[in-house]
Amino acid sequence: MEPYDARPLAGRVALVTGAGQGVGRGIAMRLAAAGAKVAVNDLSPARADAVAAEIRDHGGDALGLAFDVTDAAAAETAVNGLEIDILVNNAGVPPGGGRPNRFAEMPPEDWQLQIDLNLAALMRLTQLVIPGQAKRGWGRIIQISSGASARGLAIGVAAYGAAKAGGESLIRHLGVEYGPAGITANSLALGLMEGVGRAGDPGVDRLINSIPIGRLGRPDDVGEACVWLSSEAGGLANGQVIHLNGGTVFGR
Ligand SMILES: NC(=O)c1ccc[n+]([C@@H]2O[C@H](COP(=O)([O-])OP(=O)(O)OC[C@H]3O[C@@H](n4cnc5c(N)ncnc54)[C@H](O)[C@@H]3O)[C@@H](O)[C@H]2O)c1
Repeated sequence: MEPYDARPLAGRVALVTGAGQGVGRGIAMRLAAAGAKVAVNDLSPARADAVAAEIRDHGGDALGLAFDVTDAAAAETAVNGLEIDILVNNAGVPPGGGRPNRFAEMPPEDWQLQIDLNLAALMRLTQLVIPGQAKRGWGRIIQISSGASARGLAIGVAAYGAAKAGGESLIRHLGVEYGPAGITANSLALGLMEGVGRAGDPGVDRLINSIPIGRLGRPDDVGEACVWLSSEAGGLANGQVIHLNGGTVFGR
């Protein structure tokens, strides 16, 4: 029996966007614990640096890499010279939550921002890292998506869902185009995560009760899935959209 590899990402370099808090922070921490050197991106330099410092305090290897993923020039400058093996496109919620609105009432700049953040930035960063990955013959592209891509919801997230769905489509095509180059591409479509409210609130309890496993998602759940997708053991998954939502059944 082969021993279990506790550091399957040793020697790999990962970039996690929007990792200054929430889900992205959890992903960065788990990738680092699995041995990857992690570039912690965020719009906020203070948050990016704080998470990188936290990783180093725990014995991991990380650097803060603040830039706006919707800014093409800033993204290019930031990743220039880095050999990124694992790209996790997590940034997807604009500062302040993105002003959810019924679609007809949504100002064009708000839906444009959802597309810039959730689709164009994924495309741009992918184009920046894939040539190096292909040259090295190994790479991982991960999109953090949402159940809103696959399901109509009356909570003002039409543009967000459409942008996430566009990203999932890109991922399917990347998997086919770049699988032969040793690069896999996958989406993790999340259900509702902890932090949106507290258990005990009737609204939150109702949501939790609709999830078959009886709890909301946690950043570590997503981080562990990213570790698996990034490891050799996860290399068979390619071009997939995996719903991490406790078994929530889609419907109206
Ligand atoms: N929280 C949920 O319930 C939930 C559900 C489904 C999917 N998701 C997805 O999970 C991902 C993370 O969500 P979260 O809830 O942890 O978000 P969050 O709002 O807690 O954190 C997002 C981070 O991204 C950063 N950010 C925002 N715009 C940026 C930009 N242009 N460039 C760089 N960084 C930027 C923010 O500064 C912030 O630190 C998103 O893609 C989101 O769509 C979240």
